[in-house]
Amino acid sequence: MYAYLDNAATTPVAPEVAEAMMDVYRSVHGNPSSTHGPGRKAKALVETSRRAIAQHVGCSPRAICFTSGGTEADNHAIQAAVRSLGVRRIITSAAEHSAVIKASEHMGSQASIEVVHVQHLSSGEVDLEHLEVLLAKDTTTTLVSLMHANNEVGVMIDLAVVGKMCRTYGAYFHSDTVQTMGHYPLNLSEIDIDFVTCSAHKFHGPKGIGFLYINPSLRIDGLIVGGGQERTMRGGTENVAGIVGLAKAMDMAFEHMEGHENHVRRLKASLAEGLKQRLPGLVFNAESDRQDRLYTVLNVKFPPHPNSGLAIFLFDLEGVAASGGSACSSGATLGSHVLRALGYHDPACASVRFSFSRYTGDEDIALALEAVEKIFAPHEVTLK
Ligand SMILES: Cc1ncc(COP(=O)(O)O)c(C=O)c1O
Repeated sequence: MYAYLDNAATTPVAPEVAEAMMDVYRSVHGNPSSTHGPGRKAKALVETSRRAIAQHVGCSPRAICFTSGGTEADNHAIQAAVRSLGVRRIITSAAEHSAVIKASEHMGSQASIEVVHVQHLSSGEVDLEHLEVLLAKDTTTTLVSLMHANNEVGVMIDLAVVGKMCRTYGAYFHSDTVQTMGHYPLNLSEIDIDFVTCSAHKFHGPKGIGFLYINPSLRIDGLIVGGGQERTMRGGTENVAGIVGLAKAMDMAFEHMEGHENHVRRLKASLAEGLKQRLPGLVFNAESDRQDRLYTVLNVKFPPHPNSGLAIFLFDLEGVAASGGSACSSGATLGSHVLRALGYHDPACASVRFSFSRYTGDEDIALALEAVEKIFAPHEVTLK
């Protein structure tokens, strides 16, 4: 048996999603840009999916620009803000996903854009007072890029509050909502926001497909040019099956959201409780066990132990998939840039992210707790 507790890295594809995609692969082979029957059939699927997705997130279908996933959407938002909207300053955070950090740095070096990092509170949250100071002191055309929920420690921002602040100071606002899309209700028509990033594989959709929400009041250039697809904002023949899979995953996520959330919250609480009972010295990084943190993620700092450096590897040997950093750096020895940025990094202690989905069960939690007992069993301390 294997316990998959790395759902913030990626989630298993729902069987219904795979089935919907297989139907496309089996029976729809036209290119959506072709005007003949098979082409029109493919185009109809793309547009029906776009409408369904837009309805779930409360926006106009024309605001949805399909991309290859979250990384591309983040890059697109940041580059478009600079190249099409005249942004000269980017306010972001050192705890963002590397797609946002690197895209901002890239713009910083390529286009002489100032990149400023907002501070975080000791609890891990973005310091909104500092954000307001940054916005107020400088009227340079600015993009604020802050994720809705941090993928490693689960701290969240209130999109409506940050959006309003950005509007007050005339700044554009992008949020990477990769970890919350499909897990929390979202009504974009009620939020002052310019760009939102989505990736299907974080809510049981396929990998390699997502979208960038682009506020319809904005006109931006494409990141990828070529064909005139996505109203020239993203060249390339559409990933028809992926788009259908994304829409199906979203239908399922939104239809049963409350039930999924209750299920996941119960399992997360059960793991947190089991961990505290077994190892009273452990702490939850950024208070990730709190109710107002991303409910799919629990980030644990284990007490100092000789096995700390090997923890992720040992969990794997015990049949538990967890993560020591974000997906791209899982298994790497560099550790987590988020924990470093937020001041939680401690070389003597293993920090492990456990993340859950609606397919996680009590047996997975039991296996993780058994593994913890073995890996962090009491050890002799030898005094020199
Ligand atoms: C917060 C966040 N943003 C962006 C991404 C990248 O998304 P994708 O894998 O679709 O490129 C991830 C995935 O790890 C993520 O967690």
